[in-house]
Amino acid sequence: MTRNSDTRPLGVGLAGFGTVGSGLARLLEDNADIIRRRTGRDVVIRAVLVRDAHKAREVPLPAGAELTTDPARLVNDPDIDVLVELMGGIDAARSIISAALTHGKHVVTANKALLAEDGLALFRLARKKRRILRYEASVAGAIPVVEALKESLVGNRIESLMGILNGTSNYILSEMTSSGVEFDEALRQAQELGFAEADPTLDIDGHDAAHKLVLLIRLAWGVDYPYAALAVRGIRGMAALDIRFAREFGYRIKLIGQARLAAPENGASAPTGVRLEAGVFPALVHHTYLLARVGGAYNALRVDANAAGPLFFHGRGAGSLPTAGAVLADLMAVAREERPNNTGFAEGELERAAIVPPEDWRSPYYVRVMVEDTPGVLRDISGCMAAEGISVAQMIQKAGQGASGLPLVFMTHETTARAMSGALRRAADAGLLREPAVYYRVL
Ligand code: NAP
Ligand code: HSE
Repeated sequence: MTRNSDTRPLGVGLAGFGTVGSGLARLLEDNADIIRRRTGRDVVIRAVLVRDAHKAREVPLPAGAELTTDPARLVNDPDIDVLVELMGGIDAARSIISAALTHGKHVVTANKALLAEDGLALFRLARKKRRILRYEASVAGAIPVVEALKESLVGNRIESLMGILNGTSNYILSEMTSSGVEFDEALRQAQELGFAEADPTLDIDGHDAAHKLVLLIRLAWGVDYPYAALAVRGIRGMAALDIRFAREFGYRIKLIGQARLAAPENGASAPTGVRLEAGVFPALVHHTYLLARVGGAYNALRVDANAAGPLFFHGRGAGSLPTAGAVLADLMAVAREERPNNTGFAEGELERAAIVPPEDWRSPYYVRVMVEDTPGVLRDISGCMAAEGISVAQMIQKAGQGASGLPLVFMTHETTARAMSGALRRAADAGLLREPAVYYRVL
């Protein structure tokens, strides 16, 4: 394909007219002059697919676009060059994207859940059909991290990725930290503001961040880290108490997605390819780190690359126009007829990543246990840690005892998750804990 050979309007079939889809319609109108100047073409929505054609909508349909509930309308229309999938979910989205690629249409999507769980088959189909499949908006909303990893940083070896990848969770944690708002109220606000997924458990249980991390791993290392193999822990049930204790030690609690290259496995007789330690988890981040200052629905990603060194990306990770802007950039890339470069790696099947088990990850830990206020209890808990080789760096003991006991809060030196759960099992078996212990990694 040659660039800018075509001056016909680019015909779009828009599947989904919710938060992001309606934002895209608005941007296409507001930024029509920019689009024309940068691509040499108009971008025109021909049809809009929704679930309920009778629903009242705040944003008017694009002029000339037909509203439909029939996916085949978008797939079969010869005047539609590109399908923009902004419905979310897995099955219906997979079905319309596959049909569009099969019918020779390019695809733009923001659907990280689908791409993380079933993206390899879609990339395979796109490759076979020589179609473009772009997905900038699927990771970190407005922040151009997909393009950065796929194009700008290709001359680097990526050593690690660490970031805040879910706007809803970050909004909840920020509100709980700064205004003392309860978890449920903060979630309700995030839903109202259009940040949360249709099923918000994806946000608060860490799965949305995990979907994005799987996509980032593919882009950074060209390997497949199966979504089901990723260690994921979200922020559901996060206690305001731990946010307060963390502050006393000088930390903020953030939901972190992290992937880093690990050394070859001990005793491995042959190189294990790209071996990764990767997961999503709440962690304590020192208040002087940039990540600790990322507030509200903002996202951030730190990339460590062997030539560039550390890079920090920061911006709006969710919301109507920020996300729609990333979708529009993908559409404009299609309008310029860029050749397919869907994974960022020379086309072919991605190898599977070698996986470091979460029990072997090393870091310092924050631990809170609720105990009976009896003589020797601190010595007994410390003994459980010492028995697993864990060394304590700091400790806070609060006077007074509530219904659930006296809080003892520890910061440990670096240890493994295996040792930490071993120590807490010892404490539970010895009857020292009034309720399950809370522990988070410290970055
Ligand atoms: P949304 O507000 O819930 O809108 C979904 C739209 O898709 C609605 O118009 C809905 O129709 C339509 N739809 C859903 N299932 C359908 C089906 N089976 N058949 C036909 N139409 C269907 O969702 P959103 O927040 O815009 O998110 C869309 C996608 O963008 C998701 O993949 C999400 O993960 C991703 N994303 C969202 C954000 C964000 O900030 N919201 C940011 C980045 C990425 P009705 O209007 O008739 O119900
Ligand atoms: N629900 C997602 C979030 C939307 O809160 O980050 C952006 O992907």
